[in-house]
Amino acid sequence: MRTYKAHIIDTPSPDAFRILENGYVSVSEEGRVVYIGSQCPVETGELVDLGDRLLIPAFCDLHLHAPQYRNNGLAMDLELLPWLNKYTFPEEMKFAHVDYARRIYSRFVHELWMQGTMRVSVFATVHPEATRLLADLLRKAGLGAYVGLVAMDRNAPDGLRNNALQAFSETTNLDRYLGREGLVRAIVTPRFIPSCSEEMLTALGRLANESGLPVQSHLSENMHEIDWVHQLEPDATCYGDAYHKYGLFGQTPTLMAHCCYTNPQETQLMRLNNVCIVHCPTSNTNLASGMAPIRHFLNNGIKVALGTDISGGHYMSMLRVIQYAIQTSKIHYAQSQGKMPFLSLAEAFYLATKSGGSFFGKVGCFDLGYDFDALVIDDAYLNFDHYTLPERLERFIYIGDDRDIRMRFCQGRLLPEPPL
Ligand code: GUN
Ligand code: FE
Repeated sequence: MRTYKAHIIDTPSPDAFRILENGYVSVSEEGRVVYIGSQCPVETGELVDLGDRLLIPAFCDLHLHAPQYRNNGLAMDLELLPWLNKYTFPEEMKFAHVDYARRIYSRFVHELWMQGTMRVSVFATVHPEATRLLADLLRKAGLGAYVGLVAMDRNAPDGLRNNALQAFSETTNLDRYLGREGLVRAIVTPRFIPSCSEEMLTALGRLANESGLPVQSHLSENMHEIDWVHQLEPDATCYGDAYHKYGLFGQTPTLMAHCCYTNPQETQLMRLNNVCIVHCPTSNTNLASGMAPIRHFLNNGIKVALGTDISGGHYMSMLRVIQYAIQTSKIHYAQSQGKMPFLSLAEAFYLATKSGGSFFGKVGCFDLGYDFDALVIDDAYLNFDHYTLPERLERFIYIGDDRDIRMRFCQGRLLPEPPL
């Protein structure tokens, strides 16, 4: 056992921060929280005094594309569908080459570590070798992840398609290779409806339901995309129903990114099926997609997490996503004449930690029994005057960055810097 003494800040509930000035948190050998409080526990094990630093939960990024890492900060001049064709698909095709994949994926994993993102649900590509390599690099780094071999058999160039049989068997192989006990596991990943034929969706639905594997995909991101889905799947009552029909919409734990234009019927289907929306506000503004009405989803009892959606989103820090989530919610607030309250800092922080973390088990805060996923923040540079602890956290979130992160823990393990 080990006990850390620091200024501990987390969000056990979205209403408010829990702040323990000079608090203590004890972590078991298995990496779980066994004590949290203002008093020093009777048994501490090794006591690690972190001084005037902040101890916060590490971040969870529930939607991003590892093979798009090279395009970060590029290609913001098009909307979703032409953006995919012009910039994204050509880049993803390069992952047929394992050497290229190793170079980009090593940097990707390094940046997750750097930005304090300890858990991800990530899209790879259609290439099984490169996808396994990504999973290996994440495992080696000690990060937690769901890794998806992307399934796509239509409306994509040669070299970036697999077929239903391949997607089924290669995802099954990845699941067997990774197992269900470790921090890195497989997830069923239909890219989106325009990429997946009926045969593909049938195969993936069977796979998810027989194996119990979770599912991730994209939903109602862009108006042209939605019109296209209605043409491709005329029998579906809404875009979400096109997944639901095949058992890919909450029959197993499911993440759906974006939902900028989810209508009441789709909202209802998500609520009934416990589908988690992954809100990606940086991507939604970069691709001029729209703004997901997050307050509306929260009011309807829908689970919401946050994602960078690299490289639709331009930067891998979840700090920026928290900030954009609040800022875009303020535009909704203003446009609704105040009827849609904007997200508080605590709410947005909760979405990036405990809400996203719940997809991985007990992850995302320092409640008893939770995995100790934590960041040690040294904000001495920002804290040059008499700031309170809530002010220090707010300043770190808005104007801090990876330079302020001094230690990163995933499930109790202090993670060393992975090789580039
Ligand atoms: N929809 C289908 N593929 C993608 C992708 O790579 N990024 C985003 N933002 N949306 C998608
Ligand atoms: Fe995406």
